[in-house]
Amino acid sequence: MTMSMSAAAATSTTTTASVPHLKSATATTQIAAFPTTLSRTSTYAKKPISITCSSTTLQTPPPAAASATDRVFNFAAGPATLPENVLLKAQSELYNWRGCGMSVMEMSHRGKEFLSLIQKAESDLRTLLNIPSEYSVLFLQGGATANSPLSPSISANLTIPLITSSRDLGGTRLTKRLPNTASPNPSGADYPKPANENEVLVADMSSNFCSKPVDVSKFGVIYAGAQKNVGPSGVTIAIIRSDLIGNAQPLTPVMLDYKIHADNNSLYNTPPCYGIYMCGLVFEDLIAQGGLSAVEQKNLKKADILYDAIDGSKGFYRCPVETSVRSLMNVPFTLAKPELEAEFVKEAAKEKMVQLKGHRSVGGMRASIYNAMPLAGVEKLVAFMKDFQARHGG
Ligand SMILES: Cc1ncc(COP(=O)(O)O)c(C=O)c1O
Repeated sequence: MTMSMSAAAATSTTTTASVPHLKSATATTQIAAFPTTLSRTSTYAKKPISITCSSTTLQTPPPAAASATDRVFNFAAGPATLPENVLLKAQSELYNWRGCGMSVMEMSHRGKEFLSLIQKAESDLRTLLNIPSEYSVLFLQGGATANSPLSPSISANLTIPLITSSRDLGGTRLTKRLPNTASPNPSGADYPKPANENEVLVADMSSNFCSKPVDVSKFGVIYAGAQKNVGPSGVTIAIIRSDLIGNAQPLTPVMLDYKIHADNNSLYNTPPCYGIYMCGLVFEDLIAQGGLSAVEQKNLKKADILYDAIDGSKGFYRCPVETSVRSLMNVPFTLAKPELEAEFVKEAAKEKMVQLKGHRSVGGMRASIYNAMPLAGVEKLVAFMKDFQARHGG
């Protein structure tokens, strides 16, 4: 697979301002911010696009410093926190994307500007996950729910062992396998092997998508809602081994048929354009961080200090998940005195740490610490937990 990333370096001037400060649109900038040569197998490979736009001169610099202090640490399970630099970049491009005179929200999904965006997003995701050439990458809608492997799109004549996250606990480990049962995979590093050639592994990776390297070749289908680790809600990403595409049962609705989307490069109908753009910015950011191995190290560190705080609290806090299957992304915990839980959530919110209330079916607290949660957020939470314990007789 050959991918020239050189063109990716040629980006437009980053501009930002609120609308009244817009001054002039002068310089011309090459913004081929995507590989000019895409993978042979890219769904967009046929016609690389290069576009030229005017850059925009703005009077006021971005309010980066101010916005950082205004923000909370958001521990929500999804939609979840996004990287601050990605939000600021999106803000700077919101009104006039790289000098093209319109917002990404206003672009035709068939126009050259948007095509360049979606191509770059696919290419970067392929780079990040080292996606083999025989896999299609699709940007879809309908959430992880609509992409459930129980959808008729790929299920004809196949037995599908399902790997999914433990949603209720917010876990990211392998917990379920259909139609055969299999024990949960404790390490998350090895996946259950298909029992025979008619079995394919289908993984709902919504909770931990792009949080660590994954051997895509072990899977038939990977799908994930973007709203936890890689973007806003509204985009669902599916990575599908090409030979599995095209097995839809006759009554499959077109929007659930992966072949329709693969044949149309995710552009069968209007896609969630802005969400795909945001995912693309997140992918760029993950690459800039050093790729998924580097990201995994950061995630391990964050999870370690949080679990250590829970386990070292002498029972004041408890994690209901067995050590070997704990998630790096979603950390549920309870208080030995449940009557204090509401107070914990309330006080944390006052300290600008929000969305710590546990899943409605589990109770207690849950801290989602996806890729975009900074280490500082987890450190602040741990300091708060210790202080709360000291004040409440721990
Ligand atoms: C593992 C997992 N799968 C599926 C879903 C549902 O995703 P969606 O709302 O995108 O359909 C969630 C949402 O929380 C989830 O955590």
